[in-house]
Order: sequence, then structure tokens, then C-alpha cells
Amino acid sequence: MQNYKDVLSEILIDAETLQARVKELGAQISADYLKDDLLLICILRGGVPFTVDLSRCITTPHMVDFMAVSSYGVGKRESSGSARVTLDLQTDIRSKNVLLVEDIVDSGHTISSVLQMLETRQPKSLKVCALLDKPERREAHVPIHYLGFSIPNKFVFGYGLDLDEYYRNLPFVGVVDLEKYQPPS
Ligand code: IMP
Ligand code: MG
Repeated sequence: MQNYKDVLSEILIDAETLQARVKELGAQISADYLKDDLLLICILRGGVPFTVDLSRCITTPHMVDFMAVSSYGVGKRESSGSARVTLDLQTDIRSKNVLLVEDIVDSGHTISSVLQMLETRQPKSLKVCALLDKPERREAHVPIHYLGFSIPNKFVFGYGLDLDEYYRNLPFVGVVDLEKYQPPS
């Protein structure tokens, strides 16, 4: 795999700006759930760095659980329309206040089908926290209650977001230069 520096066209959101925004979101969520117990649901794998940092900025008691859904395969950058649960929660969400934590809302299909599925389990409340939003790409309506940043229609990587499963570890969000990028064979 190429070094990220060879495929990066620009840093869209630097690490400091990301951390400052995560801190603000954590403070806002702490205030909103001051009197309510909370369960954060991290959508694997892209939501991991964001969920971990956000959880550390939430000062009220909360639990964290994980689920995985498939909408993108390696080498495929379009959402398939509906998401399939590939790893389910360990927690019974019935009567709980649930906050879904996702890296990015693109077409909206992934979150939209996850929300529909989770609603059938009758949580007390169900909200969405997304680090990034690409509004130009939206096909399915998704309510985003907490948003980090709205971004233009560019393919990005870093801070959880991958390029064919690589670069999730980077502390910033960068734009890929598709002319320079050579996908792994
Ligand atoms: P949606 O179903 O189209 O909203 O797709 C959401 C999922 O697609 C996200 O959870 C990401 O995993 C992936 N995705 C969408 N846009 C990007 C991007 O720019 N970089 C990396 N992954 C992305
Ligand atoms: Mg994702």
C-alpha cells in the first residue's frame, strides 16, 4: 500500500480542529443526557476513533456497544442501498436512550436502514451523531442530531475513514487524490 502522503491531495480537517469539535460535541451530549442514562452505539469500523474520543469527552455515565453493517466492500465506494448487520449488539436496547455514532453520512442508506432496524427493538430514544456529513450525496433522509462537520462531495480518509481499509489511523481527515491512488490488487 502507498504511503498516505502519496495519495493525499489536501488535509480537509486537521487533528486539532477535529479534537476541538469532538470536545464541543461531548459537552453538548453531556448536557442533553444529564438526567438520562445513555448507550453509545459505535458503527464499526469507521466510527471507532470518533466514538472513543467522544466517549472520553462525555462526562455523564454511559455505556458503549458496537455493531457492524456492510454497505461498502473493499474497492467499492458506492453504498449498496441497504445495510446488512454483520455483527450485532451485545446490549438489549429496549427502553434505553441510544445514540448512534457514525463516521460519515453519505447517501444516508446505511444509517437509514440501521435506524429502521433499531426502532423495532423499541429503545426509549434513538438519535444520530455523525462526525461528517456529505449533504450533496444524500438519497435517503437521515436525521442528524449531532454533527461534527459538513463537507463537500469529495472522498476522504483518516480518523476512522478508510481507503480500501487503510489509513483509518490518521489523526486528520484528508482528501484522496484519485489520480495518484493505486488500489491494492
Ligand atoms: P452511506 O450509506 O452512503 O451513507 O455510506 C456511509 C458509509 O460509507 C460510511 O459509514 C463510510 O463507511 C462510507 N463512506 C462514505 N463516504 C466515504 C468517504 O468519503 N471516505 C470513506 N468512507 C466513506
Ligand atoms: Mg462507516
